[in-house]
Amino acid sequence: MARKDLLDIASLHREEIEFLLDQSTSFKKLFTRSVKKIPALEGKSVLMLFYEASTRTHSSFEVAAKRLSAEVTNFDVAHSSITKGESVRETIETLQAMRTDYIVVRHSHPGLPGMIARQTTASVINAGDGAHEHPTQALLDAFTIKEKFPDPRGKKVLIIGDILHSRVARSTSTLLQKLGVEVAYLGPGSLVPKYIPVSIRRFTDYEAAMAWAPDVVYLLRVQMERQDVQFFPNVREYHRVYGITNARLAEISDRGLYIMHPGPVNRGVELCDAVMDYERSLITNQVENGISVRMAVLDWLTPGGEFPRQESYAA
Ligand code: CP
Repeated sequence: MARKDLLDIASLHREEIEFLLDQSTSFKKLFTRSVKKIPALEGKSVLMLFYEASTRTHSSFEVAAKRLSAEVTNFDVAHSSITKGESVRETIETLQAMRTDYIVVRHSHPGLPGMIARQTTASVINAGDGAHEHPTQALLDAFTIKEKFPDPRGKKVLIIGDILHSRVARSTSTLLQKLGVEVAYLGPGSLVPKYIPVSIRRFTDYEAAMAWAPDVVYLLRVQMERQDVQFFPNVREYHRVYGITNARLAEISDRGLYIMHPGPVNRGVELCDAVMDYERSLITNQVENGISVRMAVLDWLTPGGEFPRQESYAA
């Protein structure tokens, strides 16, 4: 079961997923009591290499690593030699020379964490690569759902919004399906990929999607930074057609549905303000669970292996 890297959900086996979710439960229980730190990664170093902005993923990985007693270095991309034209390859070779044990990387380029993983003995964790994958978000989403539905098989999760540009939608729906959860997408035709797995239902109409009777409504932010804004409908119109308005929240509440969102939220676009105070909103639970899940991931991976590796990459 030992793995050096966590790059995607697609390649994870069900046993590995269940192991990580069980470990996350143990870490959550431990740290809900008075424990502040355990020595699991004492003497190990974790490098945070974020080429894109992050609040939740970055801070929860940092907290998780420190709770495991690792030393954490925040690589400051904006003040590094990257601004002088240093390539990703040179950055990684430099970091390899420093014998970092774990690299947590976020980048806009799909597949870049995998390319880095082949160039270093450090364990590489994909913290989001473009619209490709965000595996630890998927794990914390599954963990949060399992807290409400310990056996999630047959439960239904409706993912609403900008599926096309969402690494979260890809990773989370892949993971939920591995756990036997039914998944459907709802969004405008321009924001749902043309080709999706046949096992995932596609809706363009909100009422039709709700008639499918989901247990969880999972909202996504419209990622303006990854698209030409001229293709995005008017914000007020989007909110009316696909957003959780006050009236829709009342119906969701009557039906006892849970609401999730990976953050950051755009109030007035995919949801109204009242969602943040909704009693079955799991948005804060997702953030909290991110720490336990990322502890489980760091504790599980095993740095090492042969070096230098043979593959090369352009960057
Ligand atoms: N969910 C998520 O990835 O949030 P951040 O961009 O704040 O890390």
